[in-house]
Amino acid sequence: MKTKVILTSLTFILTMTTLTSSFSQNPARTGKQVFEFRALPYSYDALEPFIDKMTMEIHYTRHHRAYYDNFIKAIAGTEWESMTLTDIFATVSKAPAVIRNNGGGYYNHNLFWENMAPHGHGGQMSDELKQAVESAFGSVEEFVRQFNDAAKGRFGSGWAWLAKDAQGKLFISSTPNQDNPLMDVAEKRGTPLLGLDVWEHAYYLKYQNRRPDYIDAFWNIVNWNAVNQRFEQ
Ligand SMILES: [Fe+2]
Repeated sequence: MKTKVILTSLTFILTMTTLTSSFSQNPARTGKQVFEFRALPYSYDALEPFIDKMTMEIHYTRHHRAYYDNFIKAIAGTEWESMTLTDIFATVSKAPAVIRNNGGGYYNHNLFWENMAPHGHGGQMSDELKQAVESAFGSVEEFVRQFNDAAKGRFGSGWAWLAKDAQGKLFISSTPNQDNPLMDVAEKRGTPLLGLDVWEHAYYLKYQNRRPDYIDAFWNIVNWNAVNQRFEQ
């Protein structure tokens, strides 16, 4: 039993390391880009009881899959298929809505899966990140409060973010629909470090209309190891 737990933990750590590095490198390529539909880095029930198995399964296999498929279909044969996601987002105001919505959905969910981990497997904020959080928000508690407010205050569907601007300063923001801070349409622009999906599809089966409970539960499954790594890049 003990051996099984250790093996499961090792598999999880190895998968996360591989996924995080392949996702973060995003090498600039010439010609057609390769956009992969990556495996979920844990099982559907791994985030229980904070996010239930059925929500994870539907969210990943239906919603995420649809964003991916529609994004790939939308860019096929167009100038957008040779661009990186970062470059697409930087000029997304000129792109058709189908690319903005589905490209955003594909990227945002990849980040979301990565910045969660089974309870007890996500590590903690690095000293460097903690220092940056305290410098930007005063304290970790104040950061959590402001992030929660951004997530609760998003009217309708969207996301809450912790992101880093061009000067390396942290900020919290919220975007509607599948927009994100990398997009030229975002009010505050920067690189997302941590994202929380506040679409109802992310929580309704378990939490119904209690979005604040889902937001509180999220802090139990944050993968700080992944967030730390993104902060350092
Ligand atoms: Fe979602």
